[in-house]
Amino acid sequence: MEKTTQMYEGKAKKVFATENPDFCIVSYKDDATAFNGLKKGTILGKGAINNRVTNHLMRLLEKNGVPTHLVEELNDRETLVKKVSIVPLEVIVRNIAAGSLSKRLGLPEGVKLGSTVLEYCFKNDDLGDPMVNDYHILAMGWATREELDQIAAYSFKVNQVLSEYLKEAGIELIDFKLEFGKTKDGTIVLADEISPDTCRFWDSVTHEKLDKDRFRRDLGGVEDAYQEILRRLLGE
Ligand code: TMP
Ligand code: ASP
Repeated sequence: MEKTTQMYEGKAKKVFATENPDFCIVSYKDDATAFNGLKKGTILGKGAINNRVTNHLMRLLEKNGVPTHLVEELNDRETLVKKVSIVPLEVIVRNIAAGSLSKRLGLPEGVKLGSTVLEYCFKNDDLGDPMVNDYHILAMGWATREELDQIAAYSFKVNQVLSEYLKEAGIELIDFKLEFGKTKDGTIVLADEISPDTCRFWDSVTHEKLDKDRFRRDLGGVEDAYQEILRRLLGE
């Protein structure tokens, strides 16, 4: 299928329409931003790595009962996906304290949480993606009770499948962000990406950061970390 008009350009991806109204083409960029776009940069090769890693993990999730928007990887940077309307939530799943949770609760990074934590943020750049709870989501009509229960159940399943899979590759899944969409027939599917941009991956032994925190925090070795994730997951 061929790209037609550009529908949307985000911070890390562009989305194009196709001749078929039920499908879109996602194109991953090397552009990186952090802190709601305040910090800008380029991570060479990131687009291609995130495309490959996302599709690899989405295929694994599909096999384990989590429906996704993935249809077919078209090339290095581009993937054919089902057209969905995005539920305007960032769903964050946390196993180990890090990032904004550590700040908010005064927990040192690396402390194991007593049980998995699920958080929702309203996807809105102007407002800086504020954290919301079930009541806000239902009151604003961003999802129904049934849809939100489905989203939560899929999110826990994603955590279980990915944590086990990554462990085999010597990677600890600290936390991650998911987005869900609704297809034309109202089915909830996993959308967006699952990559070093949207997850915290730590080396299981050394606890070295292998994700976008290297860019956010100016730790150096950003490209190498993305490459290392690709190597461990896809063997290249
Ligand atoms: P946080 O600790 O900054 O709230 O981030 C939690 C997880 O969500 C982390 O794995 C990075 C990911 N994330 C995104 O994918 N997009 C974002 O805009 C933010 C703030 C975090
Ligand atoms: N991508 C987000 C932004 O530009 C945040 C992040 O990943 O840290 O703000």
